[in-house]
Amino acid sequence: MNIILLGPPGAGKGTQASRLEAERGMVQLSTGDMLRAAVAAKSEVGLKAKAVMDAGDLVSDEIVTGILSERLDHDDVRKGFILDGYPRTVAQAESLERLLTQKGMALDHVIELVVDEDALIDRITGRFSCASCGTGYHERYKRPLVEGVCDVCGSREFKRRPDDNEETVRNRLAEYRAKTAPILPHYEAKGLVRRADGMAPIAEVNDAIEAILDGGA
Ligand code: AP5
Repeated sequence: MNIILLGPPGAGKGTQASRLEAERGMVQLSTGDMLRAAVAAKSEVGLKAKAVMDAGDLVSDEIVTGILSERLDHDDVRKGFILDGYPRTVAQAESLERLLTQKGMALDHVIELVVDEDALIDRITGRFSCASCGTGYHERYKRPLVEGVCDVCGSREFKRRPDDNEETVRNRLAEYRAKTAPILPHYEAKGLVRRADGMAPIAEVNDAIEAILDGGA
């Protein structure tokens, strides 16, 4: 099963993709994570991407499609993948179609997480993650079970993304409305779009996605 999780910043794409990876063995393909790894490694791509990401703008289609194409050549994606953060423009949606055809793969669903825009700023500005294993948390909605200690690896160090401040988030939302939302009709025309209520609690959103994947919703 190969799916796209689509939704604005803070919709819960990363949260749900990690759960699907753990529960179903599907592979999470987050272009945001790939770009952040390139920035951390100070690679050529990372150096080009850093300022763009910090401002909340979109990195060029050419760069992002290049890193995704390389990732799709790894054998593990044959287990099934969850695209998280790609495609983000009509040009990327068209590139994805060509890439999947070349690699003999196809999409099963495009699942849109429908969220109330007011909630997004609150979700993103409250988000933090474990500095060691990357597990995601939120100041109010998902705190570690033991205060100050990561549930998964026990680390006591946490970090925040540099693009998670309110001003940048507002720009990311504007980019989503202008450049990413227009790809929905592309997938609607193919009958691939399903919707889940992204305002529900995390476990319920997960159940709704699982129901779609199991063909029951
Ligand atoms: P990326 O890393 O993809 O960020 P994003 O799309 O802005 O999405 P987020 O990671 O902010 O949100 P999410 O939907 O994953 O929400 P999450 O699950 O974390 O991209 C970053 C940047 O990289 C872009 O701005 C761009 O510059 C560049 N980039 C990446 N891909 C690109 C591409 N294809 N083309 C060009 N540029 C690209 O949840 C958020 C918080 O809410 C968490 O704290 C979580 O615990 C909480 N939460 C989640 N679900 C719920 C719920 N149901 N109820 C309550 N709280 C919830």
